[in-house]
Amino acid sequence: MSMSMDSKLNAVVLGEALASDADDLIVPTQDFSTHAHVPSFDNYLELYKWSIEDPAGFWSNIASQFYWKQKWGQPVYSENLDIQKGRINIEWFKGGITNICYNCLDTNIAAGNAEKIAIYWEGNEPGVDATLTYQQLLHRVCQLANYLKDIGIRKGDAVLIYLPMLMELPIAMLACARIGAVHSVVFAGFSSESLSQRIMDCKPKVVITCNAVRRGPKTINLKDIVDMALAESAQGGTVVDVCLTYENDSALKKESTKWVEGRDTWWQDVVPKYPATCDVEWVDAEDPLFLLYTSGSTGKPKGVLHTTGGYMVYTATTFKYAFDYKPSDIYWCTADCGWITGHSYVTYGPLLNGASVVVFEGAPNYPNPGRCWDIVDKYEVSIFYTAPTLVRSLMREGDEARISYTVTLLIAVLKHLLLSAIGSGKFWKKKGGNFSQLIYFSGKASILLQFGIEEALEGTYSLLCILMESWGNLERNRSEARGMNADRILPNETTHDTSFKFAAMCVDSFNYSCEPLAKKAVKMHVTRYSRKSLRVLGSVGEPINPSAWRWFYNFVGDTRCPISDTWWQTETGGFMITPLPGAWPQKPGSATFPFFGVQPVIVDEKGVELEGACSGYLCIKSSWPGAFRTLYGDHERYETTYFSAFPGYYFSGDGCSRDKDGYHWLTGRVDDVINVSGHRIGTAEVESALVSHPQCAEAAVVGVEHEVKGQGIYAFVTLVEGVPYSDDLRKSLVLAVRNQIGAFAAPDKIHWAPGLPKTRSGKIMRRILRKIACKQLDELGDTSTLADPGVVGQLIALADS
Ligand code: PRX
Repeated sequence: MSMSMDSKLNAVVLGEALASDADDLIVPTQDFSTHAHVPSFDNYLELYKWSIEDPAGFWSNIASQFYWKQKWGQPVYSENLDIQKGRINIEWFKGGITNICYNCLDTNIAAGNAEKIAIYWEGNEPGVDATLTYQQLLHRVCQLANYLKDIGIRKGDAVLIYLPMLMELPIAMLACARIGAVHSVVFAGFSSESLSQRIMDCKPKVVITCNAVRRGPKTINLKDIVDMALAESAQGGTVVDVCLTYENDSALKKESTKWVEGRDTWWQDVVPKYPATCDVEWVDAEDPLFLLYTSGSTGKPKGVLHTTGGYMVYTATTFKYAFDYKPSDIYWCTADCGWITGHSYVTYGPLLNGASVVVFEGAPNYPNPGRCWDIVDKYEVSIFYTAPTLVRSLMREGDEARISYTVTLLIAVLKHLLLSAIGSGKFWKKKGGNFSQLIYFSGKASILLQFGIEEALEGTYSLLCILMESWGNLERNRSEARGMNADRILPNETTHDTSFKFAAMCVDSFNYSCEPLAKKAVKMHVTRYSRKSLRVLGSVGEPINPSAWRWFYNFVGDTRCPISDTWWQTETGGFMITPLPGAWPQKPGSATFPFFGVQPVIVDEKGVELEGACSGYLCIKSSWPGAFRTLYGDHERYETTYFSAFPGYYFSGDGCSRDKDGYHWLTGRVDDVINVSGHRIGTAEVESALVSHPQCAEAAVVGVEHEVKGQGIYAFVTLVEGVPYSDDLRKSLVLAVRNQIGAFAAPDKIHWAPGLPKTRSGKIMRRILRKIACKQLDELGDTSTLADPGVVGQLIALADS
């Protein structure tokens, strides 16, 4: 171990941390730690030291637990991360022959998990669901793999997948992996332009999609988007021969789907006809597994390329340790497979561990903000992994619910009192049935109004209450209609007494049912669900602010579930800095310590490593098995983007602080990338979409703090000479971005800019724009070096226009 590593580790003295920062430390329960894979910090240090001092030995030991048709050669890994020493190169387990699909499915089946559920699929609409056991999943994967082979897909060919979170998405990824094809999943929220850009870059032989998807209350016709993208890419010279389309008939019927004869094929018409077994294509550990496009600081997305062996070992291991995964766990990650999280921690990492995974098609707040916890209870989810943006949005709903809690409680108490009075017969005798009915209905109407009919009808208590009430009313009405004849139905009792008896019964049952109903209704969204199955929580994609962390921990996890705040990137393949639950106390908002084999360093702008408590640029020294190997078709861009800023290191593009206890605190991107709801968006991409609008002359985009999304997109737009500002134009500029990139990249604010603050050499000074966007006008700094300092005043004047 190097001196710097030693001193860094020495800084992490937990006794010190406990004593100095007691308020900030969330200590795992003894019970959790005792049963954790890594029960203590000492235990972690021991393994971590091994992983740093002897990476080959450490990772070989873990890799041997997988199936290899042929063991890797020597050396176990080779690397050059120093651009000054030549070509950047990373290889792990070279010469090892394996297949990741085989390790996900066949080996788990052979180990006795054939009947274990691999995927619990939950549809957009509550109540629409399906499951696949490991055996069934293998069958489905093999059928698709056989189809792909039949249409000529071979090892190394690219297959583009543009699917929502149907089971067919992981099936398609695994089918590609089985035959050695390279999948390139494009998030199904990207526009046709973005899709065609990616098609033209990776030139797939086939595109796999579905006709439409329901996302929340909306239906999105994906096939239309694919049609446009394929037409655009054909114009650009890339013709795709086959478009395999899954009929998602809950969203759109076959008959209503536009069709291109000769190119389009229905999945359901062909795939099920193929055999349910398929020989594996054995590949080298360094053969490509997938491409995934991500945003950078220039307009063109980067095709991050991951290879097979190292990625397999790394995602499986990080999954196991960072979530303290046990075979009895039910795991749910809310990410879409269109992003890296869905690759590594919906599909590969969990399946390699033989886990049962929940795959959710819908939106987490549909039909109401309690949906996530409904799903958690339904499947008894024990590990729940999500993004801070979702935590913040649900936290907001939770706050609103607390306001209605008080109101509802008052209504419930009032109703209880009134109904008890009726029950005792006082009101009944004086006013007769109508008054009682009025009370019933007004009481119920208040609930219905307040929580919506769906909410109020939910649950057995409310059903019981309504049934009893209807029964009472029915009997009363019948008795009233029949007058004295009622005696014949119920001898020995008068009509009045009969009605009274029924009404009293209703009142009693309503009293019993009203209270729990009210309790159920007031504990909106989170606490009305049990969530007792939860054991570990996870967060990813952006820094989680301490207040969101605490809400997640206190409300969702009932203070018993550690939170794994996992810092990593598309490029890193798997977790890099992450808590290991149970191994050490947590600090809300800190990703804590490096995973095994990862050597984070914080450098200053000159690339000098900083020691002890410090802030700077986050880099990684030495390679790890899950690292990306290149940018598809552009190794030079790979080297300049990631390895030239600080020679000798991989530069993450993130800022980071390390506190005196050695805990890492990610502070966000330091390049021109904005992180919106955990999605990376390059400012240049948004700017180029804006300037494609015929009335936009120039645009500059900056990120601003956003309460829910983490960062929002703030665009300064200069219009073509003579074009007046208008709200319609604003909308059409936003639409241009939605159409070119996707709805998730839509700017939150368009700020009219008669000019942009530029240096004399023409460089836009974003620092000034950021300050104007954040309304930090007293921190503008020196503006005298601008070519036209007057522009700043003009921008400030137009801030609220
Ligand atoms: O800025 C960091 C942020 O997300 C970036 C990586 O984005 P992407 O490649 O799309 O992958 C997202 C899922 C891994 C990082 O450069 N980021 C990711 N996780 C965290 C984070 N920032 C702070 N804390 C995290 N846990």
